[in-house]
Amino acid sequence: MNSDDMNRVAEIRRHFPNIDRDISGKERIFLDNGAGSLVLREAADAEYFARINASANVDGHYYESELNEKIIKEGREALATLFNSPSSDNIFQGESASILSFLLGIALRNYIGKDGNVVSTYNEHYSSVAPYMFLKKNGYIKDLRLAKIDSETSEIDLEHVKQLVDRNTKLIVATAESNLTGTKTPVNELKKLADENDALLIIDGVHYAPQDLINVEKPAVDAFIVSMYKLFGPRGSFAYVSDNLLRQADPYNIDPFTNRFKGSFMELGTRDQAIFNSSLEVVKFLSNLIENHGGISRSGIEQSLTWNKSYLAELSRLILEGDDETPGLKNIENVRILGITDIKELHKRGSTFSFNFKNIDDSKAERIYWEKFGITVVGGNHFNVAHDFLSRKSVLRVTFLMYNTKEEARKFLKATEYIASIERED
Ligand SMILES: Cc1ncc(COP(=O)(O)O)c(C=O)c1O
Repeated sequence: MNSDDMNRVAEIRRHFPNIDRDISGKERIFLDNGAGSLVLREAADAEYFARINASANVDGHYYESELNEKIIKEGREALATLFNSPSSDNIFQGESASILSFLLGIALRNYIGKDGNVVSTYNEHYSSVAPYMFLKKNGYIKDLRLAKIDSETSEIDLEHVKQLVDRNTKLIVATAESNLTGTKTPVNELKKLADENDALLIIDGVHYAPQDLINVEKPAVDAFIVSMYKLFGPRGSFAYVSDNLLRQADPYNIDPFTNRFKGSFMELGTRDQAIFNSSLEVVKFLSNLIENHGGISRSGIEQSLTWNKSYLAELSRLILEGDDETPGLKNIENVRILGITDIKELHKRGSTFSFNFKNIDDSKAERIYWEKFGITVVGGNHFNVAHDFLSRKSVLRVTFLMYNTKEEARKFLKATEYIASIERED
């Protein structure tokens, strides 16, 4: 890591009030980012501001109501910039990614139809495939087909995807990056298959969003979902939805005045203005990370996420290979990693690492990480279908984000080496 990176990470850390200790005062290293990141100070301040000052509902001709509408409008526009969406009319907000996935599934039940099938993979978070399990179980659609993944690297078996897709495939659903192993999906390849079969393509970008650049136009996808609490912001999620999908959609909605290209076409009930305001601050933060222009810009986002990606790749290399001071995860005896470990393949993975110890169970290891080293490593089930496919009911998981330092990565590795050396209890 060069000194520019060190300075940038130090500057980033100043934006996160709880970066190195929790509210009890305990010093800790936060690596449970896959489950939810730390929160940006500006995002929390904006949430508070909007909660107090814009609590009125929309449609009133008075200050607080107009402020509420303005906040929601500007938040939607900010998210459009993050997604690179052609219009903020394509941005829909939901309480969680799970809800947005469910609403999209329900809206597409007639489009998929009783003879239609959906193709997805064994790398998915349950929330992405559960809507189609529900539609199949209740007779709305014919089938949900899941493509196999590699048992070591968790890469999707593209040949199997090709076998599963046929002329009745109406939709392909895939995660941009596995929340279990950090393995990325070749979205371009799926897009080709979707186009060849006239199918829609929905991408779950929840785990990917804090690690890489989103561009819903390249390749052109039909939906892309993110959760802001994984991206330094509030609980609450957003989806880009293409005009193409909106034209096919038959959603459950309750707004008598809505139209296909309006938030309330998919959004059920009154929106929380605080989520919009807080999320806008996340986009602003990303826009100004490398050069401070003050506003929100696509070029600023591209710059910062390009830097972010290369910084996280460097941390990933350190985690896998180690350096002069510490061995890498690959070289620590008794550690069994799930996911890509080949340094030449770093571009195919993000900065999430899952593993088990051969000498100690996950819950005991988790406690040692926390109690002896003050590191948040979480074991168990991470709501991913791959747990079943790979017969790994529980794994320990860490995710490194832009505020994590090289020094933190080394401390994690040293703690891992210590735990791996504990005598096995049978
Ligand atoms: C890849 C992925 N998709 C979807 C979700 C569900 O997100 P939410 O909690 O917003 O429903 C998660 C949450 O962990 C996730 O990691």
